[in-house]
Amino acid sequence: MCTRAAGSKLCGRHRIALRYDGIEERAAWRKKRMLRVGYPATLPAELFRDFPSGIELIPISDKMDHDVDIDVWIPDPYSTKAIRAWPRLRGVKLVLAMMAGTEWIPETVGPHVTICNAHGAHNISTAEWTIASILAMLKYFPLYFDIQRSGIWKRRFEASTHYAEITGDTHTTYPPVLQEELTGKTVLLVGYGAIGKEIERMLEPFAVKVIRIARSARSQPEVHAVSELDALLPRADVVILILPATAESRGLIGLRQLSLLHQGALLVNSARGPIVDTDALVKALNSGRIRAALDVTEPEPLPEGHPLWSCPNLFITPHIGGSTPQFAPRSLRVAADELRRYMNGEPLRNVVQAAI
Ligand SMILES: NC(=O)c1ccc[n+]([C@@H]2O[C@H](COP(=O)([O-])OP(=O)(O)OC[C@H]3O[C@@H](n4cnc5c(N)ncnc54)[C@H](OP(=O)(O)O)[C@@H]3O)[C@@H](O)[C@H]2O)c1
Repeated sequence: MCTRAAGSKLCGRHRIALRYDGIEERAAWRKKRMLRVGYPATLPAELFRDFPSGIELIPISDKMDHDVDIDVWIPDPYSTKAIRAWPRLRGVKLVLAMMAGTEWIPETVGPHVTICNAHGAHNISTAEWTIASILAMLKYFPLYFDIQRSGIWKRRFEASTHYAEITGDTHTTYPPVLQEELTGKTVLLVGYGAIGKEIERMLEPFAVKVIRIARSARSQPEVHAVSELDALLPRADVVILILPATAESRGLIGLRQLSLLHQGALLVNSARGPIVDTDALVKALNSGRIRAALDVTEPEPLPEGHPLWSCPNLFITPHIGGSTPQFAPRSLRVAADELRRYMNGEPLRNVVQAAI
């Protein structure tokens, strides 16, 4: 329960500024040496209940018409809003992102600010999206949803032709229904970090063969180096991309990699759009060689009329993989832990850029 004070309100142990420009208030707070933490004004203050004491929460909006002094910035997860707010912020030493992927932040805040991500906060949501999209594609849910909306009980007998086209298997299918099984398939997991491991855990009941790839090879369990990607692609029925977008991973999946996939293989991108060469993907999909499920695209948002919208055998969601109602509470728990460490002078856990 929060109680109001002049120009501010107390929420739990924190003072939340109601005005950004109260010079007297800021001076008083500075004397108390409170750590000033800027947070997205769109988030309810109740979400910060578990933040450590000794901080002052400052709502940050992209519509501010004045500068604001803060020590720590929790940017709006919508990067366009956060980027608009940044020029108004002064004194930021630490950025605590609510996302796992932070690619826009270093170029926005520069090298003199430490950046931490919300490592681990989005494992469950993103892994669930990945499993759901694989099952949706193998069970042809997008097609059956179109049929449902047409209101006509139809297309039970197209299976053989479709399987012949998509998988290259020309045998007549009985029963003549479009539906495949995940169980027993080979899944190539490109990225074996927090979310990759959660995806593997969720895949366990399906008894798939998982082949893991990360930057460097290791054992127990066996993980291949990304340099082996091309050699491993032909073995995959399903390829899952769950790695950060970096200079090294940009275009990792291009024309050559797509051509190495077997007829009908499914590419799932729950990571970031730039990891796949979009033109190459459009070509591969239009040729009927592969299928894909994308939560992320390049560009984003995908503009109206973009060729990806009309590709066959493709399922797209608008970058929602990590965004369940648990997104904010989970990522702010990670941020609270980092703040506690920061205030106690302990090493931070999830540094993606150390300030120089
Ligand atoms: N769709 C969504 O809404 C959503 C939500 C959350 C996250 N994501 C994306 O998912 C990504 C992964 O998140 P995470 O928490 O699992 O990250 P993480 O724990 O840091 O793991 C990243 C994994 O990717 C590997 N990797 C990095 N660069 C690589 C490269 N060039 N080639 C091959 N593998 C590479 C790493 O290899 P090493 O183990 O060898 O270091 C590691 O295994 C995030 O960066 C974000 O972009 C998307």
